[in-house]
Amino acid sequence: MNRRGFLKASGAGILMAGGGLAWAQGTPRPLPLIPMTDVTGGIDARIPLTLGPGTHDFGTGAASRTLGINQGYLGPVIRAKQGQTLPFDVSNGIGDVTTLHWHGLHIPGDVDGGPHQEIADGGTWSPDVPIVQHASMNWFHPHMHGKTAQQTYHGLAGVLLIEDEASLSADLPKTYGVDDFTLVLQDKMFDESGQMTYTLSAEVFEDGFEGDTLVVNGALAPVAQTVPTGLVRLRILNACNARFLDLSMETRPITVIASDGGFLSSPVEAASILMSPGERYEILVDMSAFETNALTVDFSGGGGFLASLFGGNQAQTALTLTRAAEKGFTGSMPKSLATLAPPKRSDATVTRSFALQMDVGADLSALALAWENVCGTAGAMAINGLPMKMDRIDETVRKGDTEIWRISVDDQLHPFHIHGCSFRILSQSGAEPPAYAQGWKDMVHVEEGWSEVLVRFDYDAPTEAPYMYHCHILEHEDCGMMGQFTVT
Ligand code: C2O
Ligand code: CU
Ligand code: CU
Repeated sequence: MNRRGFLKASGAGILMAGGGLAWAQGTPRPLPLIPMTDVTGGIDARIPLTLGPGTHDFGTGAASRTLGINQGYLGPVIRAKQGQTLPFDVSNGIGDVTTLHWHGLHIPGDVDGGPHQEIADGGTWSPDVPIVQHASMNWFHPHMHGKTAQQTYHGLAGVLLIEDEASLSADLPKTYGVDDFTLVLQDKMFDESGQMTYTLSAEVFEDGFEGDTLVVNGALAPVAQTVPTGLVRLRILNACNARFLDLSMETRPITVIASDGGFLSSPVEAASILMSPGERYEILVDMSAFETNALTVDFSGGGGFLASLFGGNQAQTALTLTRAAEKGFTGSMPKSLATLAPPKRSDATVTRSFALQMDVGADLSALALAWENVCGTAGAMAINGLPMKMDRIDETVRKGDTEIWRISVDDQLHPFHIHGCSFRILSQSGAEPPAYAQGWKDMVHVEEGWSEVLVRFDYDAPTEAPYMYHCHILEHEDCGMMGQFTVT
């Protein structure tokens, strides 16, 4: 019986959730600093990204079998600058076919790293990736259809920070590992011996895989960091397969300066921010005002199994910050960050609708398997009545057109992602999005009504290298809640 079944079948689960999550207790560990590959100063050689098996101790005392990029678990933080072209050599040594997708980048379909750009085991893929967009936090992960969830879960995920002239000269903290930190948040399952596990059941396909233990940069939460007095910047990625995370600061409010696709027009204060899988937010913490502070993550954010079982609050500390005496970044909270006109609905000349469907019925489920969707024993999933099919193009978009994409669901909360663009959210589940989600985004979630985004595609994605749109619950994506479009 797996832990999930065990939890469900016994009262022990209630004790566990009430007394803190299984592997999440004890004294904070130091925040791991993910190694940075900084090419903002210039590029004189190809940039190797080597995908392979590894072992990693998350802090349970056991070495888990993992996958990593240039290391045992996770990939590097790559820092690049607008205007550069990044010559990657992506070598696949994981023992299985994969791809590597640049999530958030405005790049043509043939270098996007979607499911058509397979890298055979032992092979190398060498895309030249042009960085044209503004300062933003992006990431990369496998996108091999049917294998995305397990490959990403096991550790194939890295961060790609883009800087531009404005961000480099902005009066913001930017010393990596001192006042500027990248946080990769994930939920994991561990067995009694401390080994990371990933078990799929029909139920897991329904909700997506949700672990009971929070890890930050590959270390069991809570993690701790000492910082200088002044403003501290946290660039945060939700790299969970399926779990929504509700983030807040102990001292409240939380101050957000950037979303998926770049800076907000000015800092936004919120009581908490809801992060779907795949989303990124940057926040500033004022460590001149408090001697300590903590970033809190609530697992009950998006519903799911534990939330439905226990209802309320599963807040836990992700990161504690402790102030040291020395002065760090001396600037003050910025007043404005970027020019960002409100999105204009009337700019759109095309409207498309996407219905995300959890259960397509037995007939289509059989077809979906033949189309290489991976659903375990659960029924297939679909968008607009059709599970993903690699050789079917679902939508054809004209380059440069402004469009409205409206998304609805038949059940559950789903995070929707579109390749090759940043968009603006017009409405989210039928309501105005929170202020922190009104900037550039490539993720929008929907639970009821319509979520609508205003979007334009400026790069080519031909039939042999189309873009994807999909639910970013990775098990749903693998199970067919994905479609393909061309831009010409
Ligand atoms: Cu983050 Cu199509 O993926
Ligand atoms: Cu993407
Ligand atoms: Cu979904």
